[in-house]
Amino acid sequence: MEKIHKTVLLKEATDSLNVKEDGCYIDCTLGDGGNSIEILNRLTYKGLLISIDQDINAINFVKEYYKEELSTHTNWKIHKSNFKDIDKIAEEYCRKADGIIMDLGISSRQLEDSHNRGFSYLESEEPLDMRMDTSLAVTAKDLLNALSEKELTYIFRKYGEERYSSKIAKAIKQDVSNINTVGDLTRLIYKVIPADNSINKNPSRRVFQALRIVVNDEIVSLEQALDNSFKILNIGGRLVVISFHSLEDRTIKNFFNDKQKKCEGELPLGSQFIAPTDREVVDNPRSSSAKLRILIKLKEGNEFFKMDTK
Ligand SMILES: C[S@@+](CC[C@H](N)C(=O)[O-])C[C@H]1O[C@@H](n2cnc3c(N)ncnc32)[C@H](O)[C@@H]1O
Repeated sequence: MEKIHKTVLLKEATDSLNVKEDGCYIDCTLGDGGNSIEILNRLTYKGLLISIDQDINAINFVKEYYKEELSTHTNWKIHKSNFKDIDKIAEEYCRKADGIIMDLGISSRQLEDSHNRGFSYLESEEPLDMRMDTSLAVTAKDLLNALSEKELTYIFRKYGEERYSSKIAKAIKQDVSNINTVGDLTRLIYKVIPADNSINKNPSRRVFQALRIVVNDEIVSLEQALDNSFKILNIGGRLVVISFHSLEDRTIKNFFNDKQKKCEGELPLGSQFIAPTDREVVDNPRSSSAKLRILIKLKEGNEFFKMDTK
């Protein structure tokens, strides 16, 4: 049993939380546990760490891999849930948090050891499922069946920023009964997208991203999680969010900017972020699109925040 996911911006993100040794921290995206273990190591037994993930495979991996840590640190609680319910989860344990971290999107484990869920366009034999939480009702294949050509065009454009959305949607609907696996869909996309666009990056990546975002309702969950996080932050508490694509980042930026409208004399929050160093990008190419944003809650009322870029 080995770790697969290399945590992006690990030091920058965990330092930004400014961990107090007896504070309460919530890691909304446990994954392989990279951020959680770093936070746990900075806490005394009086501190509390709550780690959330909606994917049972992530939870099972961490429970096994960090068996010893979990048996000696009873102040580390692992919770299977969607992070949009962070306020309800916090109520069960500590009510208010001193720091909250979200490292958004999909983990390398989900891509490479997906339990047959077809997150990666490289796993051609896998079914088109893409549910992080397998109790969700709708798979990616269900979307292809149920949505019209127009609706598929819309989601590929909106959530994948795919230029050839309508061509791909049309081709899918013409042959939908034969598109069941990752390979069926990637082969179709190769046929539809002009060759020049397939040279550098896999031409399927935008459609896969779009389907995954819709299946897991990622943007709505993020909006709710941001709102609910602020409700439960202590004064001086920090929210640290790492995003990987423009839609996620726009959601965070808008949220931060909106909060700032009610705040005087601060620099524009939405324009400030931390990016990985060139060295990190070379070591871990997955980090290349990462943006880390940090907010500090200054006053009760959930409407007065300040950016911290260190
Ligand atoms: C990028 S990985 C996190 C990696 C982790 N920071 C680490 O160092 O190993 C994102 C994780 O968040 C989980 N996740 C994504 N959206 C979620 C949501 N709405 N609620 C709960 N977990 C979510 C995914 O299942 C995945 O395991």
